[in-house]
Amino acid sequence: MESKSVLITGCSSGIGNCLAHGLRERGYRVFASARKEPDVAALSAAGFESLWLDLDSSESIQAAVQNMLGRTQGRLYALINNGAYGQPGAVEDLSRDTLRAQFETNLFGTQELTNLVIPAMRAQGEGRIIQMSSILGIVCFAYRGAYNATKFALEALSDTMRLELRNTNIYISIIEPGPIESRFRANAYAAFQRNIDREHSMYREYYARVEKRLEGPKPLPFTLPPEAVLKKVIRALEARRPKTRYGVTFPTHLFHVLRRVLPVRVLDQILSATSNGGRH
Ligand SMILES: NC(=O)c1ccc[n+]([C@@H]2O[C@H](COP(=O)([O-])OP(=O)(O)OC[C@H]3O[C@@H](n4cnc5c(N)ncnc54)[C@H](OP(=O)(O)O)[C@@H]3O)[C@@H](O)[C@H]2O)c1
Repeated sequence: MESKSVLITGCSSGIGNCLAHGLRERGYRVFASARKEPDVAALSAAGFESLWLDLDSSESIQAAVQNMLGRTQGRLYALINNGAYGQPGAVEDLSRDTLRAQFETNLFGTQELTNLVIPAMRAQGEGRIIQMSSILGIVCFAYRGAYNATKFALEALSDTMRLELRNTNIYISIIEPGPIESRFRANAYAAFQRNIDREHSMYREYYARVEKRLEGPKPLPFTLPPEAVLKKVIRALEARRPKTRYGVTFPTHLFHVLRRVLPVRVLDQILSATSNGGRH
């Protein structure tokens, strides 16, 4: 039987890389994409059908989809929207360009890609769209406003698409990981250094403390390896009727409950302390 094709964004590291390997081992035909040429080459060398796909570039998105559909006779079973980055920084320190860049990658490019593959899924009469959201698509942490906003928006577009695709056999599942071992923190730190003017910020003392912490290798509590995400993705791909949301890690499950049962003021205290926002 012909293998089902899966296209994954952001396979250079972390969760995307783990999904590419894990799904190939499970028999899927994996199109592993990355935004930097050396990573595309490394994925090819690892035996993947690799694609250059930079979510910030419409040209690369269109070329990648065309290339992939050309190789599969127009078929794609699943799209895994995994590629993204976190832009830390207090909301009042986010320039318009910095906020826009966060949305370009995490939301606009992701939706452009999704819209390009839906017609193929409609034509074949089935499809799965897997959205890599976050615990920060459920609740907000201080100093993560840009990232929070993109993940909330991703959840909103996913919920809307689910309504609009109701009478098709195309299922949208949202994966909500808590802390996972990957390059996410290192990449977020780089974005922080690149885009936030620490010296002129009201929050500079807080930032100095955070930078000290980020320089250390200490993982956050409850951190799991990316294989924990792979497990949920496999369920979303293979269940006859996949769930709308799959939480990964204890904090995600906890905050789903706390958000429903606690008064906002109490929840804010917990979120403030959790995101280290309570102490500046
Ligand atoms: N790790 C966590 O704790 C955690 C928790 C909740 C949700 N998530 C979500 O999980 C997903 C994967 O993150 P990760 O933890 O595996 O972090 P990661 O190791 O930093 O991987 C992120 C991937 O996204 C790619 N990416 C960034 N900008 C891109 C762009 N413009 N176009 C295409 N790809 C781009 C990165 O490519 P480069 O190498 O080129 O930058 C990398 O391949 C993300 O959606 C993230 O929001 C992660």
